[in-house]
Amino acid sequence: MAARAVGAADDVHDGRRYATALANDVANPLLHPQSPEHQQLLQPQPQPSSSQIVSMPSAVRCSFIGEGSANAVFCVTPICDMAGEKSKSSSGRGGAATRGTGSSADAGPLSTHLLRIPKAGPGVGPDTCLEHHAYYSNILRPLFGAEWLVGQQLIQGVNSSGVHAMLNDMLADMDRGHRGRPDWVGTRVAENIDVALLVEDMTAACKEPSYPSSTVIIQCKPKWLVQSPSAPVGARRCRTCALAAASATSPATDGAELKTGHTKNSMSYKTKPCPLVLVAEPPSTSQEEVVLESALWDYVCEHLGSAVAFTSSSPGSPSIKLSSGPALSLALKRARPAITRWLRTTDFFRRLAAIQADFDPCGALSVDSSAAGASALQLERLQTAMTLRDCTCFLRIKTSDDPTTSEPVVISAKLGDLDRKDGRRKLARWQMQERTLLSGRFYLGTEKPRQSTQCWLERQRP
Ligand SMILES: Nc1ncnc2c1ncn2[C@@H]1O[C@H](COP(=O)(O)OP(=O)(O)OP(=O)(O)O)[C@@H](O)[C@H]1O
Ligand SMILES: [Mg+2]
Ligand SMILES: [Zn+2]
Repeated sequence: MAARAVGAADDVHDGRRYATALANDVANPLLHPQSPEHQQLLQPQPQPSSSQIVSMPSAVRCSFIGEGSANAVFCVTPICDMAGEKSKSSSGRGGAATRGTGSSADAGPLSTHLLRIPKAGPGVGPDTCLEHHAYYSNILRPLFGAEWLVGQQLIQGVNSSGVHAMLNDMLADMDRGHRGRPDWVGTRVAENIDVALLVEDMTAACKEPSYPSSTVIIQCKPKWLVQSPSAPVGARRCRTCALAAASATSPATDGAELKTGHTKNSMSYKTKPCPLVLVAEPPSTSQEEVVLESALWDYVCEHLGSAVAFTSSSPGSPSIKLSSGPALSLALKRARPAITRWLRTTDFFRRLAAIQADFDPCGALSVDSSAAGASALQLERLQTAMTLRDCTCFLRIKTSDDPTTSEPVVISAKLGDLDRKDGRRKLARWQMQERTLLSGRFYLGTEKPRQSTQCWLERQRP
């Protein structure tokens, strides 16, 4: 089965040296940290002109899509306000609400984008999304390339249009129906946010697959794709797996950041698969090839819980949503060789690894918390490495059943959840985390009691 690796490189490289070279290549404006251009890039731009900001329509229908610890995401559809009056109703799983009455109106960017809005919390204010968007436009887009990132733009009028209250009503409905994660009960969209983000809906394409085909979107957080610069010599675990082991050892004291090695939607302490398989060295024997292929497939299967999948089997028939059970596994199974080949050969994760390595060359412990002068710049760069540790990868897999097609499987990937991390607030926590991993011997895998992990490093050096 052939696959088109969208944006994939022909050659496969690995290692920090290549990673840094690649980052230098892609991050040209950031190579000269003292240059005025660089300093300017790091400054959030003043409020963009209004032509760049979409206005919230006065009459809309909203439905809940998802939430994380910091943001809630909704689908917003404008409707023609025929009666000119405001009305409101709620229904359905996850909640849906309407403001205004009438038929669907031309949705513009709202037809392809979702509303992503911060929840109330420390450091969240009226300019939060403006800052995230300036950071996305001025730093991340030039660094990574627009084609690799989930598209985004600003929308204003969330509060002034009254939509804000509808969103919180939906979150309250979720709480009453016990449909959300228990530790997010009571969390609400921030009161003082009028400007929020519109993000490209990564599931849109799969809801309208062309006949006959299936489209599956899988979400994963690759986390750290390079080892910590302060990891000890002889480390048998990467940072992500070391964190997972630390969390399993002391779940009560792990704090939000130490939970990152665990499944997002459950409070169990099931560890995630090691992300280093995504940037593994090319196998040199057929046995190594089998091991890597199987590890990559395990990585995909571990994320099936996040999958959104639709299939269209005959002309004119509506798309059918595949459940996350056997139908989904079957749809993906046929594409397995193409998926694992894409994962092995794409430049996508190596690019991410390259930037993480380049922007965090010495580790959080080497950053001076006074964050003055040169260390301010070091902190800025660490923030970018941390942003690219916490981002989400949306993997899109389209499988065609058309026997005449030359491309039965087409795979592509984009990064989302690119909020700028605030290093001034978080540095102490990042440093504490690293100290915990070092003092608890979690990198070496000699902690007591010994936790079971499946780090790719351990598998290379049993
Ligand atoms: N561009 C998108 N397309 C489709 N669904 C999305 C998109 N962005 C977010 N979602 C959905 O909304 C959920 C929450 O969004 P997101 O991960 O951005 O929130 P967050 O609070 O930043 O998460 P985290 O706690 O991981 O930082 C996601 O898990 C996903 O299901
Ligand atoms: Mg996030
Ligand atoms: Zn690992």
